[in-house]
Amino acid sequence: MSRRGRVLTVVGNRPQFVKAAAVSQHLRESADETLVHTGQHYDRELSDVFFEELALPPPDQQLGVGSGSHAEQTGAIITRLEPLVREVAPDAVLVYGDTNSTLGGALVAAKAHLPLAHVEAGMRSFNRSMPEEINRVVADSLSQLLLCSTEAAVANLEREGLGKGALLVGDVMADVALTFGPIAERRSDALQRLRLERGAFCIATAHRAGNVDDPGRLRRLVEVLARAARVAPVIFPLHPRTQARLAAAGGLDSLEERGITAIDPVGYLDMTCLVRASRAVITDSGGLQKEAFLASVPCVTMREETEWVETVEAGWNRLVGLDPDAAAAALEELPRPGGRVSPAAEIYGEGKAGERVAAAITERLGRAARHPFEPRSVPTLRRR
Ligand code: UD1
Repeated sequence: MSRRGRVLTVVGNRPQFVKAAAVSQHLRESADETLVHTGQHYDRELSDVFFEELALPPPDQQLGVGSGSHAEQTGAIITRLEPLVREVAPDAVLVYGDTNSTLGGALVAAKAHLPLAHVEAGMRSFNRSMPEEINRVVADSLSQLLLCSTEAAVANLEREGLGKGALLVGDVMADVALTFGPIAERRSDALQRLRLERGAFCIATAHRAGNVDDPGRLRRLVEVLARAARVAPVIFPLHPRTQARLAAAGGLDSLEERGITAIDPVGYLDMTCLVRASRAVITDSGGLQKEAFLASVPCVTMREETEWVETVEAGWNRLVGLDPDAAAAALEELPRPGGRVSPAAEIYGEGKAGERVAAAITERLGRAARHPFEPRSVPTLRRR
């Protein structure tokens, strides 16, 4: 009798909890999953809240790595994950996205000669000064099953000679946004709490190292938000990194007088509710560009490039870098919420990406089980 396959999943950051929420429930129907939390994000608002709100099973293992430099963080993940992988002896390892937790998980899997599946494979900004770009490129080159959110991602992998393992499944974050969007509107009281009127505010986030670590760039980012605030007041949930950099630059106190209301980070349901009720999203996050698109809300992206090119091509997202004039123009020119419906659901897989990810993994584990004595010669996580 064939046993169920065993998958060890590595998560560690806020967006990865969202991604795992879309996949875990389906994966657990046909495989045994060990969910490992690296501890890269540890604050309640950045971690526990997501498990609770999205009904994600609690982690089976906590590595507790916490914050640190890239070397410290990645090193700690590898050191703590390797013995755990040996103990659990999974048939495959699953990683998500592009963070140091993704990188650590991918390296350990590869060195243990374990098949590796990467969700959100093939995303590229073509900007190697982003730590995320390096993490993606390494994770993809070590993965056998490259689960892609978009056609553009598949094309990127084909260009890099990695097309053989690529599979277009849709975007798992879209699954969660589509399921939890209406739930967030019912359950979240963020609009009442913050005394906000639907359609009369912008919601902003910023956390990219390239935007917030340099005081000059951080000042320009605040200029962008201040200019947007002339169109509609800006609500700005602060990522801890951004909060720390703003505090160090003495920039926290002047925000309110410039129309920017800084608040603590909010959970998934509050954020989803705020995005859906906003006039526009202003962000440097990848996930929020998609979530705005799915909610048919325009997005002004404070970056020079995006991995989510279809949001721009469809006319719902504009890349403005840190240029206040370009941001103001984008707010005027992009579609207004409440008008057209964006084609996002169709582009990102109609809310079925998580199911496809789980099916692709378990199907390949089934193939592996037919060759239990030749583990290294079996292309267990390859596309047919
Ligand atoms: C990380 C990812 C980024 C992802 C983001 C999602 C990397 C290289 N970056 O960035 O790709 O988009 O997560 O949010 O992996 N901190 C806290 N509490 C926490 C976590 C962090 O206060 O729970 C503070 C610490 O001061 C820490 C800083 O935030 O030094 C940055 O955290 P870190 O995990 O290094 O990267 P993020 O900026 O969150």
